Amino acid sequence: MDSFRVEEEKFQAAAKALEFIEDNMVVGLGTGSTADIFISLLGKKVKEEKLKIECVATSSRTKNNATNAGLKIVSLDDVEQIDIAVDGADRVDKNKNLIKGYGGALVREKIVAYNSEKFVVIVDSSKISPSGVLDKEIPIEYVPFARAAVFKQLKKLGVKKIAERMEGSQKFVSDNQNWLVDAYFGEIKNPSKLEEKINSICGIVENGIFSKKKPIVICAGKIL
Ligand code: A5P
Repeated sequence: MDSFRVEEEKFQAAAKALEFIEDNMVVGLGTGSTADIFISLLGKKVKEEKLKIECVATSSRTKNNATNAGLKIVSLDDVEQIDIAVDGADRVDKNKNLIKGYGGALVREKIVAYNSEKFVVIVDSSKISPSGVLDKEIPIEYVPFARAAVFKQLKKLGVKKIAERMEGSQKFVSDNQNWLVDAYFGEIKNPSKLEEKINSICGIVENGIFSKKKPIVICAGKIL
């Protein structure tokens, strides 16, 4: 798919997600280029319709973008519940399980998504797995102190390839001051089980399989 079409589909998905927004909602804001489009559209809607919306951001990048779009950012501690979370994804399987975290914000993204009443995922069609199963690298955030132990345990779990997440020549550091690896397990037949198994490794904070909260997936302008 050419890049113009990808951008068009991201915009269509973000615009469709706006239909789920109502006055007085608390909205969880995801991270990434598609979430950024949603943030700017939401900013316009809130201004034009004079809505009372509070937002919880899943990254410092999103916090900045949302503030620039005129949105009110509050912390998770300050709200009783998140009514809706809207976020992008890196891969979607036929059962709406996701891989997320290529932007490195998976921990806060999962906390917000799993604690929301409604989870809306906005993607372009390149994110839909053609085979129907999750088949790409899983981002994993871990505590730097545990690096060697985490690598050893991931190998025991059957990982086929591990790559350190880098930012230029430096290790990528998450908003939580942790490090990331991208771990390839091949085709993931049981995402729910693998999500649990990875998280049971001591030193791992969270992984990018999102299987425990079924999202509403919007691909381009259509709800799947
Ligand atoms: C951020 O950590 C990711 O989970 C993003 O949600 C995901 O990478 C989608 O990003 P794009 O919308 O930029 O493709």
